[in-house]
Formats: sequence, structure tokens, C-alpha cells
Amino acid sequence: MRGSTSSWILLILIPFLLRRVVFAKIHGNPANEIMTVINNNRTSIKLPKLHDNAGLGCMALQYITECTSNCTSNGTLACKPPEIDITEVYAANCGVELPTVDSVTNHLITCSWNYLSPEEAFSKILGSDKKAGSIIHDKGNVEAGAGFNKAGRHGPYFWCLLFSSGKGNSTFVLEGGKGIEQKTGCFSGGGLTCNSGFRVLEFKLIFLMAIMFFCTFVLL
Ligand SMILES: *[C@@H]1O[C@H](CO)[C@@H](O)[C@H](O)[C@H]1NC(C)=O
Ligand SMILES: *[C@@H]1O[C@H](CO)[C@@H](O)[C@H](O)[C@H]1NC(C)=O
Ligand SMILES: *[C@@H]1O[C@H](CO)[C@@H](O)[C@H](O)[C@H]1NC(C)=O
Ligand SMILES: *[C@@H]1O[C@H](CO)[C@@H](O)[C@H](O)[C@H]1NC(C)=O
Repeated sequence: MRGSTSSWILLILIPFLLRRVVFAKIHGNPANEIMTVINNNRTSIKLPKLHDNAGLGCMALQYITECTSNCTSNGTLACKPPEIDITEVYAANCGVELPTVDSVTNHLITCSWNYLSPEEAFSKILGSDKKAGSIIHDKGNVEAGAGFNKAGRHGPYFWCLLFSSGKGNSTFVLEGGKGIEQKTGCFSGGGLTCNSGFRVLEFKLIFLMAIMFFCTFVLL
């Protein structure tokens, strides 16, 4: 009887332990990291780095929110939110100062049901959009921003990039330097780690595991 109780508890615990391992892989800010991968790719062929703009990064994270239910089981993404939403809705939701909103020249987005390293995500973006290579190497693009988020408890994970020909710090300026706080996910350019969504999940898991270990001791 006791033996079977503890094996049940172990069976219940295993998925949680595995998820803990998956979460441990997401540290730092994957959105900043994919910008580094892109800029390394550009400088390797002597193109200037793209200015990493936090306003654009936040808008890329907003873009993801419109696509969270559109990732197919094979990791392709058919999602076409109205172009106008980028500068009219996402900018406002991020607290981008209105007069500093410039035009967004290109956007790239991809999804995956397992977590990809920033290098793998970059390859996935190149593989899922024929135009991606030329967008990344476009001389007209001066700045960019990246967003990263996880939609459900078990994924999918989303990566989105927005590009602009706007000049450096004077475009897509976040009000008060921080703009409106986003509930979940990560974006590049702000020097910030990811938003609370990820940390809350980690704490919840630790809390659940603590309860389960406690129950194990009470039962046995
Ligand atoms: C992935 O799934 C979508 C729809 O579910 C389908 O149209 C597409 O051809 C699939 N792609 C591959 C590479 O299997
Ligand atoms: C997401 O997929 C649904 C169902 O196919 C579609 O109606 C919707 O327009 C898609 N969303 C976007 C933003 O493209
Ligand atoms: C850089 O990006 C291009 C596409 O834009 C790709 O074909 C190439 O393999 C990348 N190079 C490296 C070193 O990642
Ligand atoms: C942006 O601002 C930072 C510090 O505020 C400065 O170091 C950097 O040169 C500026 N970049 C541009 C493109 O103006």
C-alpha cells in the first residue's frame, strides 16, 4: 500500500521536475540574445549593427499576443494581424510616445512547440520565411526590436522581430524610459530581464513541488 502511494507521488512529480528543467534553460533575456545573433550575422558580412530599440521590442512582444492561437502542430504560423495595428495599437499598448512612432519596414515571426536557443530560433526564422535573409541583411534597416513569449503552459514559444529605418534613440521612445509594463514575455533593448510571467511560473512550480514533498512525508 505504502509502496504504491509513493510511486503514484513520484509519477505525479516527474512531469513537474521535467518542466523545471525546461524553465531553467530560459534565463537572461532570449529577446536580447536573438538581437545579438542577428547583429553578429550582420557584422560578419561587414554590415552595421542594428540599433536595438526597446520600443520596437515591446511592439514585437505585442504582435505575438495576436498570434498566440495560430501556431500549427508542426510549428508553422499563419498569422496576419492588420499592418496598421503595429503602429496604432501595439505602440499605444507599450506606451511609445506618439510623435516618435516611425514606420515599421518589416516584421518576422515564428513559433515552436519546444524551446529553441536564440541561434536555433534565428535558423527557424530564416527557414520559415523566404524573405527573412534579405530583411536581416537589408541596408535600409537601421534598428530593430525582438519579442519572445510562451503562449500556454506547454508552449508554443513565439519569436517576433520588427525592423525600422528610423534613426536610433529618437524613434519609438518609451514614455518615462520604460513605457507600459507588459504582463508576460521578454523584449529586447530595455536592458531588462524578462517580465514577471516567467518568474511567477517558476515560483508556482517550486511552491507546488514543496507541497508535494510535504504530502509525501505526511503520507509515508
Ligand atoms: C504544417 O501544417 C499546416 C496546416 O496545419 C500545413 O498547411 C503545412 O503544409 C504543414 N507544413 C509542413 C511542413 O508539414
Ligand atoms: C488566426 O487563425 C484564425 C483561424 O484560422 C484566423 O481566423 C485568424 O485570422 C488568425 N489570426 C491572425 C491574426 O491572423
Ligand atoms: C547569416 O544570415 C544569412 C541569411 O541572412 C544566412 O544565410 C547565413 O547562414 C548566416 N550566417 C551565419 C554565420 O549565421
Ligand atoms: C543612444 O543613447 C545612448 C545613451 O543614451 C548613446 O550612448 C547612443 O550613442 C545613442 N545612440 C544613437 C544612435 O543616438
